Amino acid sequence: MSNKPKDNQEDPLLLDHDYDGIRELDNKLPRWWVYLFWCCNIFAPFYLGYYHLFAKGSIAEVGQMRTEYAEEMRIGDAIKSKSVAEFEGKVDSLEPSKDAAILARGQATFRSKCSPCHRPDAGGLVGPNLCDDYWIHGPKFADNVRTIWNGFESKGMLAWKKQGMKPAEVIEVASYIYTLRGSNPKNPKPAENTAPVKTGPSEFE
Ligand code: HEC
Repeated sequence: MSNKPKDNQEDPLLLDHDYDGIRELDNKLPRWWVYLFWCCNIFAPFYLGYYHLFAKGSIAEVGQMRTEYAEEMRIGDAIKSKSVAEFEGKVDSLEPSKDAAILARGQATFRSKCSPCHRPDAGGLVGPNLCDDYWIHGPKFADNVRTIWNGFESKGMLAWKKQGMKPAEVIEVASYIYTLRGSNPKNPKPAENTAPVKTGPSEFE
């Protein structure tokens, strides 16, 4: 590997080794590079002590981040409970939406989350038929909204607020099932309340 180059005298920087024809020049490092290198070396132990060992940097920063995080979470929770309280306070004055986009979103929610128990046509399966005039928890739109939001967990109806459903989504899905009233799906689940209440979609018209 080490063929002493014949022309070594011609270029004093040329080292006398040779890797498969590749040869190396012994250039001096630029001064600025060397100074920078030493500056970094001197700076490093001080910074190590400052940042990692004496809690001026990282630990303090982590502490600060934790406080900021807790504060942001507190603000977020306050906003959330305020809007939940607002929603719960106005349930009785809500009316079913007729907006096509809202109903389409409600239908999508119904198909993915409710149809396993209420059937895709809402004719009833585990849960009751939502298209007839027989209501266990009241016939009004607000009754439906409240049932979906709070659930009747001991009877098998989930409290959707605990499943992360937002008030707007509850209104969407409740508005959608409202449009199914009187739709007479085939083979519906038998009525679960003896007193029928006429609640066609005309109720609010
Ligand atoms: C795990 C099964 C299940 C799922 C999923 C489910 N429900 Fe129910 N639902 C029930 C049962 C069971 C009842 C009857 C509760 C009772 O007897 O008190 C019910 C009752 C209801 C009622 C009241 C009916 C009445 O007669 O008063 C509404 C409205 C309703 N569900 C809407 C929904 C909507 C909307 C969804 C989807 C977001 C949904 N449900 C998802 C099982 C379910």
